[in-house]
Amino acid sequence: MKYLIFLTLIINSLFAESYSSTKTDVAPVNNQLYINECASCHFAYQPGLLPANAWTKIMKNLDKHFGTDASLAPEDFQTLSKYLEDNSAEKNMQYKRSNRIVSSIPAGQIPDSISTTPYMIKKHSELRKNMITQPEVKGLFNCVACHTTADKGIYGERDIKIPNYGRWED
Ligand code: HEC
Ligand code: HEC
Repeated sequence: MKYLIFLTLIINSLFAESYSSTKTDVAPVNNQLYINECASCHFAYQPGLLPANAWTKIMKNLDKHFGTDASLAPEDFQTLSKYLEDNSAEKNMQYKRSNRIVSSIPAGQIPDSISTTPYMIKKHSELRKNMITQPEVKGLFNCVACHTTADKGIYGERDIKIPNYGRWED
């Protein structure tokens, strides 16, 4: 009987380990206005993927947003600026990835995007260049092309599937 309990404990801990990717990496998006306004051209990047000062920088330059005009009506601008700030990475440090992203940014620097933060560059450094630049992906900004559960805030390795290459085996 003792052995059985012991065995159950071991099996449980193994199980927990192999399913660790079901833990949420960043807080999921829970704002419909954000989805309507900021996910019409691309994936709804979770606010917890950048610190507040980076969101402020992005919001200030919406008329020149990565080569396009993403300007908002003043009311929506206010609401979404507040949403991004309230849910930014430093407000979500209990989430592992938010914490790591913030920690990776050198003091005094404000990143222009998620994909150019030191943490993101490091995490994707083992990918071959053509995995990222191929037409089905286009660039590192296209999180959902490879992270099949990105919309849930889950970026674990179990849920990565690279177009034309398949599952990621580390
Ligand atoms: C008119 C289309 C459009 C709208 C609307 C739009 N974006 Fe973008 N955004 C782009 C383009 C184009 C890029 C560059 C990457 C790409 O081609 O998807 C981009 C990139 C980004 C990136 C950087 C991704 C990276 O590489 O890390 C962030 C963050 C971002 N947008 C946030 C927002 C937010 C917040 C809003 C809402 C206020 C918004 N976007 C609305 C077109 C848009
Ligand atoms: C071309 C496919 C691809 C794209 C696009 C991509 N990723 Fe990844 N990502 C990967 C792979 C593969 C790994 C695992 C790398 C490794 O283990 O060396 C990874 C790792 C990660 C990790 C670490 C996960 C872990 O458990 O260690 C995070 C967080 C992450 N990506 C977030 C993002 C975000 C956010 C975006 C968009 C801004 C993005 N990724 C775009 C393929 C991609």
